[in-house]
Formats: sequence, C-alpha cells, structure tokens
Amino acid sequence: MKMNPLFMLMVVLGIVTGMYTIYGIFPVSMPIIFVCSLAGFFIRLNQFLVERRKQTDAGAAIDFTMLRAKQFTPYAGWLKENVRGHDAVTDHVVSHIQQGLAVAAPGQALGAFLLPGPTGTGKTFLAEMVAKALYKDSEPLLLSMSQYKSPQDVFTLIGPPPGYQGYEIGGSLTRPVLENPYRVIILDEFEKAHLDVQHCFYDILDCAQCHEKSSGKMVHFDACVFFATCNCGADALRAIWAETSDPGLRSGRAREAMAREGFERPLLARFTDILLMDQLPPMEIAEVACLQIAKYWRQYGIEVTYTSPELLVDAIRRNVEFQDYGVRQLAGLIREITSPSIEEARRTGATRVRLELDKNTGQVAVST
Ligand SMILES: Nc1ncnc2c1ncn2[C@@H]1O[C@H](COP(=O)(O)OP(=O)(O)O)[C@@H](O)[C@H]1O
Ligand SMILES: [Mg+2]
Repeated sequence: MKMNPLFMLMVVLGIVTGMYTIYGIFPVSMPIIFVCSLAGFFIRLNQFLVERRKQTDAGAAIDFTMLRAKQFTPYAGWLKENVRGHDAVTDHVVSHIQQGLAVAAPGQALGAFLLPGPTGTGKTFLAEMVAKALYKDSEPLLLSMSQYKSPQDVFTLIGPPPGYQGYEIGGSLTRPVLENPYRVIILDEFEKAHLDVQHCFYDILDCAQCHEKSSGKMVHFDACVFFATCNCGADALRAIWAETSDPGLRSGRAREAMAREGFERPLLARFTDILLMDQLPPMEIAEVACLQIAKYWRQYGIEVTYTSPELLVDAIRRNVEFQDYGVRQLAGLIREITSPSIEEARRTGATRVRLELDKNTGQVAVST
C-alpha cells in the first residue's frame, strides 16, 4: 500500500511528541519537531490552494487561439440548406458568431441571440444546427425554461449550496459547462422562466462567468453561444420588420417591443441581437416536407431522389389543421403517409426511390 509521505511524517511526529509528553525523552528534538510541523502545515496549505486555483481557473482551459482561428462563415450554406426560410436570420447569426470567434477572449461569450417567433418555425432547430456546425463533438445544452418557473429553480440552474439536497450533482447549466466549456446553450421558451432565474443570466451574459453554488467553482462561458427562444412578441416584431429593414432601427424597436412583453430591459440589452423567426411561407413548408421525407427514408437506408409536387401538396393540405403549430406536426404526418411504402421498398431491396402520389388510390407510389 502506498503511504502519503506527509501522513507518515505526521505519524512519526505524533509518536515523538507522545514519548516526550509521557516519558520526557527527546527534549532537544522538540524545536525541530515544531519547525517540521509548521513546514508540513504550510506545504499542505500550499497544495490545497494550488488545487483550488486549478479548479477555479477552469476557464484557463479554454483554447482562445483555437477559437480565434476557427472559420464559421463556410457553414452558412449548410445551415441554410437545413434550416429553410430563415436565410437572413441565419446569415446574421453566422456573421455575429464569426465576429465573436475572431475576438474570443476571457470575459465575453461568443454570442447571445434572442429568437422570438410562433411555435414550430425552426428556432430550436436553428440553434441545434449551429451547435452541430460549431462544435461537432459537443452536444448542445438544451434547457427547457418552462421547468424553471419558481425562484427555487435558480438552485437547479446553478446548483444548490453545499449540504442541500442534490448539491453534489451541481447545476443543470453550470455542471455541463464545467465538464466541457465548448457549448451551444439553448434556453428554450425563455419567457417561461421565473424572473429570478432570468436574473442569473445578467452576469452570465455580461461577463461570461458565474459561480456554481454547490462546488464554489467559477464557470466560464467564454466559448459558449447562447440562444434564447420565445413564443411571444411575434406580432409586434412582424409590424416593426414591415416598417423598416434598417438593422439598427429594428434592433432598438425590437428591444422596446420585447420589454412590453415582460422582459427586463437590462436583460434585453445583453443579447447580441433579437431576430424574428416568423411563420414559414408555403414554399418553405414544402421544402421542409421534402427534407423530412428524405431524412425519414434515410433511416431505413433508402435515398429519396424525387418527391412529386402532388405528394407535397397532399402533405401540406393535411397539415392545414395543425398550421398554427408551424411544421412541428409535419414529420409525424409524413411518417404516416409514407410508412406503408417503406415496407414495400425494403421488400424489393430498393436503395434509391422516387415518390409519387397515385391519383386513383390516394396512396404513395414508389418507383426506382
Ligand atoms: N425552418 C425550418 N427548416 C427545416 N426544418 C424545420 C424548420 N422549422 C421547423 N423544422 C422542423 O420542425 C421541428 C420542430 O421545430 P422547432 O425548431 O422545435 O420549432 P420551434 O420554432 O417551436 O422551436 C424541427 O426539429 C425540424 O425538424
Ligand atoms: Mg422550440
């Protein structure tokens, strides 16, 4: 068994001190023992302080040189291929993140975007795709803010103080970033979080750091991009967007509009930009349908080379009932429409197929 030398020294000192106290032997060694004890104490204290500094300075682990050299602009095309109908928003996000990367430094996050818009328009999806492009080895941190509705949820976010239940697990925001600081953080439906929880983000967005309450460690968000999505304010922003295309004017008025929706102005001021992701026009819905058909069939190892317009029109017509939910229901609908044909295609061993709508039966017809 390996013994800690410091522990062994303490044992020896203990024995010697004991012998002196009981039998009065080794009187000359007492000053030496005293000095040794002091030295041992200071060595241990120094070790403790070094360990603590290492833990506290997790931010020093962020490789800023790597971040500054990162090229994100080339991903704009890929993002726009996947997230349909929001090219201007995507371009904005990409250019801000690229700027953030170029000046990456301690004390500032790479970007923070507030994405208001009706449900099912791709807000969370855009953030997830940015995460894939920016940090392909690191999962985005998706926090559903509707689960942070009470003041006590601040502890869930940044960890309860030591001794409280669950303190060893840490915070749902802080612990994953301590483990891996290269993160895209998605605050989904941000307006639903309690104001106390929203206040936590003042410091985090301001100076890109906060203390995890349970461990006392400093968490650094310098390599993070924040996306806060919200479902309110879309009508007001739509009116502003129709009035002006000037980015400066839009930004100022958007902050006012979102303040009227209940967000606090100091918090709004900390977002790099407020970008409306509005309802998709029919053409883009058709494109999303195409993408979802291709994605669904790809899971079965089959490539869809063509989807007929009639089939898409049929899917969109059936989606009308759910159009207030954006394209959220479309994936399920497409699964329902095309599932029987997947069986058939697999039976024939097809790997590339064309999908059309059989006008007589109203069913999907598959050809190779
Ligand atoms: N603009 C879009 N382009 C491509 N797919 C989309 C788009 N909007 C929504 N989707 C699809 O619908 C799903 C749900 O969208 P989501 O981003 O969660 O909506 P929300 O705007 O409510 O956050 C996504 O996972 C994606 O598959
Ligand atoms: Mg969402």
